[in-house]
Amino acid sequence: MIQFLLNQQLRSEHALDPNMTVLEYLREHLHKSGTKEGCASGDCGACTVVVGELDISAEGREYIRYRSLNSCLTFVAALHGKQLLSVEDLKHQGQLHSVQQAMVDCHGSQCGFCTPGFVMSLFALQKNSDGADLHQAQEALSGNLCRCTGYRPILAAAEQACCQAQPDQFDAREASTIAQLKAIAPKATAELADADKRCLLPLTVADLAELYAQQPDARLLAGGTDLALEVTQFHRPLPVMIYVGNVAEMKRIDTFADRLEIGAATPLTDCYAALAAEYPDFGALLHRFASLQIRNQGTLGGNIGNASPIGDAPPLLIALGAQVLLRQGDSTRTLPLQDYFIDYRVTVRQPGEFIEKIIVPKADAAWSFKAYKLSKRLDDDISAVCAAFNVRVERQDFSAASPLATGVVVEARLAFGGMAAIPKRARAAEAALIGQPWTSATVEAACAALAADFTPLSDFRASKEYRLLSAQNLLRKYFIELTTPHVETRVTAYV
Ligand SMILES: Cc1cc2nc3c(=O)[nH]c(=O)nc-3n(C[C@H](O)[C@H](O)[C@H](O)COP(=O)(O)OP(=O)(O)OC[C@H]3O[C@@H](n4cnc5c(N)ncnc54)[C@H](O)[C@@H]3O)c2cc1C
Ligand code: FES
Ligand code: FES
Repeated sequence: MIQFLLNQQLRSEHALDPNMTVLEYLREHLHKSGTKEGCASGDCGACTVVVGELDISAEGREYIRYRSLNSCLTFVAALHGKQLLSVEDLKHQGQLHSVQQAMVDCHGSQCGFCTPGFVMSLFALQKNSDGADLHQAQEALSGNLCRCTGYRPILAAAEQACCQAQPDQFDAREASTIAQLKAIAPKATAELADADKRCLLPLTVADLAELYAQQPDARLLAGGTDLALEVTQFHRPLPVMIYVGNVAEMKRIDTFADRLEIGAATPLTDCYAALAAEYPDFGALLHRFASLQIRNQGTLGGNIGNASPIGDAPPLLIALGAQVLLRQGDSTRTLPLQDYFIDYRVTVRQPGEFIEKIIVPKADAAWSFKAYKLSKRLDDDISAVCAAFNVRVERQDFSAASPLATGVVVEARLAFGGMAAIPKRARAAEAALIGQPWTSATVEAACAALAADFTPLSDFRASKEYRLLSAQNLLRKYFIELTTPHVETRVTAYV
């Protein structure tokens, strides 16, 4: 049985199909058709809903954290212990909510199909900001497509909704909603099942390890932004799932003097601050990772667990020398992420074994880390090529201002996504750099060596020629950016 709040109403669901998405639950089970289905694959945002979770602010105050999600990619079990808000919940006592009114005032809607999704994204933005700027508004709406109004009036509505926000019914009821959420907070492993499918929801890593060891054929469900597509796009049912999103130890980021330990079930949005503080380019890449809705639900562990050759985090983590901690029952092992991937979607993970955390070294001034994502669209698009470079150059001439001006490369980690069947280091190019002066001639030799490292494929994202040439050009760009301080750099690029 799972329990959650549908706005203020307690829902206890005993027997639902665990493969049912929140979108299907709202539209087909509850006959609430305000939330729309556009693509059913996380691309359009028409299905956006907001999910509230009890959280504690930096000042120690309990509050409800509201996040926009794509309901088409969220299985209903993931609502356990949370509050679900859909567009029907915003109007109060006959009055439109201020975000809805802003859309009316600014002429932000024409056919209206996308509008419930925009409204819910704007609602989450309003709840999470004190007067959002244009950049925040664009980010909040990065996963919402409109095909007829155009975005200028919608951005104007965002400005109005956030700059003129007044307390609403959700603020008035915050204390009682917090009390309700505390009353339904999960206390033991829950299960949602129907006649032939089940989803288990453990709360501790020990319980997860035990359940997975007993049922190694179960599919682990984190944010579902990859896994749900198997059901919604490929019509492959998932008979047994284990939801890792309620495992508290796996949603934590622990900071040590030399490393970050990131729980595998931490949503990408929550990884942002820690990673961006150490590595600004990691932060820049996360801004370009899918849309805000996807980052709110997708996790770092899911991005690795999915083992896609075009996942964005793995090349960056490999270039940084990150490790994964794998658990199977009571046993754990730690290995470099670069050794985790074996072949196309094949990894070293054994039956019943899962990623518990990702260990990322803290920034070291001796290394120069940068990352680049090439995709056809700036927001909400998968990489054609993702590159991450991390080089340590040792000073040779102590009168020079920077070791990067005259030094010798002593270590190099060049990692790519989109160039092979797995996220992979460019060993030949690294060898061409190591022990050589950090000069454009050395970088040219490394660029030539990239052709030995990779035989990329052509697909609808890019041709093999484009992939190889742009990988080489990104390495050149990295060199120029490091050695020519006056060059205005754009840490990420798009085609
Ligand atoms: C519209 C859209 C845009 C996207 N854009 C990008 C993008 O720009 N860049 C990018 O890299 N990806 C992108 N993705 C893919 C996806 O969002 C990411 O891979 C995300 O990080 C997956 O995380 P998740 O928590 O949703 O994983 P899930 O879908 O829950 O799981 C993915 C896989 O990992 C496994 N898994 C989950 N947790 C664990 C664990 N702890 N241990 C072992 N295995 C585990 C699952 O069993 C499953 O096989 C996009 C997806 C969509 C739908
Ligand atoms: S229906 Fe398009 S993102 Fe969900
Ligand atoms: S108003 Fe028609 S798609 Fe946005």
